[in-house]
Amino acid sequence: MAKQIIFGRPYETGALVKEAETTDTLENWQVEKFNDKLVFRCKLTENDIVYGLGEQVRGINKRGGRYISYNTDNPNHNDESPSLYGSHNLLIVDGERHFGVFFDTPARVLFEIDWQNSGEIVVTCDPNVKVVELAGESAYAVAKEFLSLIGQSHIPPLWAFGFGQSRWGYKNRKDIDAVADGYRNANIPLDWICMDIDYMDRFIDFTVNSKRFPDLKGYAETLKQRGIRLVPIIDAGVKIEPGNDTYDQGVKNGYFCTNHEGEPFKAAVWPGMTHFPDFFQPEAREWFGNEYRKLTDLGIEGFWNDMNEPAIFYSEYTGILNALASAPSIDSEKETNAYKDYRNFYHNIDGERVLHDKVHNLYGALMTRAASEQLNKILPSRFLLFSRASYVGAHRYGGIWTGDNGSSWDHLARNVRQMPSINMVGFLYSGADTGGFGGNCGRELMLRWLAFSVFTPLMRNHSAILTKRQECYRYGGQEDFQSVVSLRYKLLPYIYSEFVKAALSGDMYIKPLGFEYSDERSRRIEDQLLVGESIMIAPVIEKGAKSRTVWLPEDMTEVRYDTNGFGCEKIPKGLREVKVAPNEVVFYIRSGKCVPICKGAQCTSEINLRDVVLLGDGKEYRQYIDDGFTKNVTENNIVVLQKK
Ligand code: GLC
Repeated sequence: MAKQIIFGRPYETGALVKEAETTDTLENWQVEKFNDKLVFRCKLTENDIVYGLGEQVRGINKRGGRYISYNTDNPNHNDESPSLYGSHNLLIVDGERHFGVFFDTPARVLFEIDWQNSGEIVVTCDPNVKVVELAGESAYAVAKEFLSLIGQSHIPPLWAFGFGQSRWGYKNRKDIDAVADGYRNANIPLDWICMDIDYMDRFIDFTVNSKRFPDLKGYAETLKQRGIRLVPIIDAGVKIEPGNDTYDQGVKNGYFCTNHEGEPFKAAVWPGMTHFPDFFQPEAREWFGNEYRKLTDLGIEGFWNDMNEPAIFYSEYTGILNALASAPSIDSEKETNAYKDYRNFYHNIDGERVLHDKVHNLYGALMTRAASEQLNKILPSRFLLFSRASYVGAHRYGGIWTGDNGSSWDHLARNVRQMPSINMVGFLYSGADTGGFGGNCGRELMLRWLAFSVFTPLMRNHSAILTKRQECYRYGGQEDFQSVVSLRYKLLPYIYSEFVKAALSGDMYIKPLGFEYSDERSRRIEDQLLVGESIMIAPVIEKGAKSRTVWLPEDMTEVRYDTNGFGCEKIPKGLREVKVAPNEVVFYIRSGKCVPICKGAQCTSEINLRDVVLLGDGKEYRQYIDDGFTKNVTENNIVVLQKK
């Protein structure tokens, strides 16, 4: 059950595809006006868990924290950082009562959740907001109610579920060949390689540096024959470069955001001074989305959209200090210049000049929408698209990665905790920079992180320029990496099927244990997750650990995978200490369930999704299968496999 109430004149974000019944009173919230803001309060009982907020930091349970929805580029984030790259204003309270709330506004929102033991949730936001209250029999039912309102997740092609390698610093064909050869020679599976900003001519969107890639079309085709696709980056800012077609069209048609004087707003990002496309204008979206054709014409079938909070290094208005300022904090007086810039440029929304700050959280989402809508028209098959900045609703157009993280154990743990909350707000195709973006990733951390990423739909190794090289084949003992990554390919019949079934039925692909088990330990656990309908994982996230404590809420089949293959053992319900060597992956199959596994391969084009055996003690499995590309994704493609 969902009911909505509208305060003021909120901007239509497009988050919901179905309107809830309207009401004029909120059931669970007191609302009051404070200065120019609305303040919503809701009492919590001691036992309540508060789920939600998508990509945000801290735990699966958001109690005890302060969070700000205000899309922010903060590569050095930690659990005290108020904002990350996406804003997902959903909360679900789970205790004696189960209810949810979604604050639909593209402006900033402050969430204080039992902050300083206040015993309540306090949400402070713009007075123009649509508030949707959700009810259900359980937290899981509330989440599914929300998913039914926001519509179906983007479904990328099968190859996007293969392993991807990325690094900021691959400059030319030689660098990318070295990666392709490195993986193929080491027999570590790989399906795609990202092209970071260096493939462009001076970081100008929709250009290709022809010295570095003299024949990108031919090269993309050659790599495709080897089962590897190229996935270029597109940044939000368009370099100010008269004579460049994208720039000229943008200026001529008034497609860029404007400053106080009504001139295109200028700020520096990678290419130097840029203008930002005004994705709030439908014509500007169509224009920008069509520019991707310059790369699809060369055989490209996947993209990542970046710097679309939008990230601003400095501007004429606030000066260079931006780059030097510290990360944003809760207190407005300590805000960085990027925040000040956001109060100094404008969009043209249906002819009205709207200050960016008022609609900030929607900018990246609309970039994703721009790309996705046109790619859908341009390409005959499904494509891969994922973005750094996001807002609820953008999941229908693309996936997300969790932005710049670091090569540290706490970032791995954070990745684990982020995934179920990201799934709650519809972004099924998601994952983090495996191995960490900043910092230097050692062998043990990389193996443990890969062992977790095996289960996230987006499985990509990405790192920053000047950090230690972290392609899997560069570490000693390649057979361990071969083994962990090959598990991903053996599990693809399950991962792909569970992902698509979740998308089709408005479900989550990764869930907290508390969504299926009501015992107190399952409700509180932050480092074990459910993946699809059959699997529970308990990733090792501690340096030097040889074992970890695992909670089994019911009897399960323990599956141990290493260089020797699969080993299965029935394990009774309870708490146990489980040995997991760094080159092993251990996961659990729930009672009465099955997991289809296939032979594996070096790339998805060599995988046979139909040739599977079923692990686990269930009797049958409903498998979604298609050719990996078709746009005709329906329940009709589900087959029922019986255990022999
Ligand atoms: C941003 C992105 C990162 C990328 C870098 C260079 O930091 O988040 O993934 O590698 O820019 O393009």
